[in-house]
Amino acid sequence: MCQQKKLSDDLDDWLTALPEKHKKILQALQKKENFPELWAKYANVMQARYTKPDEYKKELSLARNIAIQAWQCDQQNTLVREQMEWAFSKQIPRWHYPLVQDDARNGVYRKALEQVVTSESIVFEIGTGSGILAMMAARAGAKHVYTCEMYPLVAAAARKNILNNGLADRITVIEKSSYDIKLGIDLPRSPDIFVAEIVDNSVLGEHVLPIMEDVWSRLLNEKTLVLPHIVMARGVLVGGDYWCRHARMGVVDGFDLSAFNVYAPSESAFTVEGQCLSHALSEPETLISFDFSGQQDYPAIDHEIVLIANSSGKVDGILRWMQLDFPEGIRFNNAPPRLSAWRPTLHFFPEPVEVKKGDEIKLRVAHDRKSLDISRVL
Ligand SMILES: C[S@@+](CC[C@H](N)C(=O)[O-])C[C@H]1O[C@@H](n2cnc3c(N)ncnc32)[C@H](O)[C@@H]1O
Repeated sequence: MCQQKKLSDDLDDWLTALPEKHKKILQALQKKENFPELWAKYANVMQARYTKPDEYKKELSLARNIAIQAWQCDQQNTLVREQMEWAFSKQIPRWHYPLVQDDARNGVYRKALEQVVTSESIVFEIGTGSGILAMMAARAGAKHVYTCEMYPLVAAAARKNILNNGLADRITVIEKSSYDIKLGIDLPRSPDIFVAEIVDNSVLGEHVLPIMEDVWSRLLNEKTLVLPHIVMARGVLVGGDYWCRHARMGVVDGFDLSAFNVYAPSESAFTVEGQCLSHALSEPETLISFDFSGQQDYPAIDHEIVLIANSSGKVDGILRWMQLDFPEGIRFNNAPPRLSAWRPTLHFFPEPVEVKKGDEIKLRVAHDRKSLDISRVL
């Protein structure tokens, strides 16, 4: 049953090293032909069963290990996969799949790399993922690309992709968090080019700010070119049914459903369709901007900005998207109507506001280094 026979010795070693109570059960289950399924179910029960808080973390990591071993023993088995999906979810979020197929995103990274990479370039990337950006840098002609990935399963798949694309001699995948990368050990010297894509819908959710502070303080030098060097959040005032149906209820099929709005989210990220910015009520403005081109600290910020209505109407909130700036004026944004793997986010005001052309709407824009908060100042 175990598809990768080579695993068998490793599997026995791994089993032997397990705590006694789990070892006995797994060894008994191993006698059955469908043992990968049974192991995956066992791991699933373990992770769902809350033991004492101090033991929980250890048990959870053990359960994850058992689930992954079960999957390695029978990778084609859908039942195993269903039972252990949770074990993958932290390391391998599903957004990897749409992300690498966002042609506009890929296009700007490719173009930026092709503009700056030379045959002398040492490139360093944080966050290998599938390996796509590291391979773009190598294809653009870099002398060598060093790329680090904190999740072992992701790093393993990236290594295979890189090998399958004939680039293994020019790309080194370092299976480490960026915080553990050492100059002179993992990286031969400060890179000429640093590239990363560690931003999410909410801009800061992948902890880009502390990561950039850390790489600038230890790994980059004043000559390193950073791609992208500016990351910003931009937005416009919006209102109307198109936006509200994502997170509010009104009269539907003749019924007033608005009592449900007590649970309505204060923000919602969604996929946009069509020319939906045609009814924006202000010009796009920069809400907040981060410059990664040199060493800087990024303390938490709490400030106010003003948006001016450019037409009259009802404003329900502010629609925010992301913009990445690269040298030579190369730019990416996911402003509607562009469809992107990154989804714009609508920050709803507690109550809609009627505005006339020229009215000012004051907004509070704050971040705590991990998340961005945008609200109306009343
Ligand atoms: C948004 S994905 C981008 C993947 C790939 N570079 C791409 O553009 O498709 C970010 C990747 O960075 C990894 N990552 C995030 N923070 C990291 C860190 N501090 N050190 C190493 N890897 C990190 C994540 O596990 C994930 O695989």
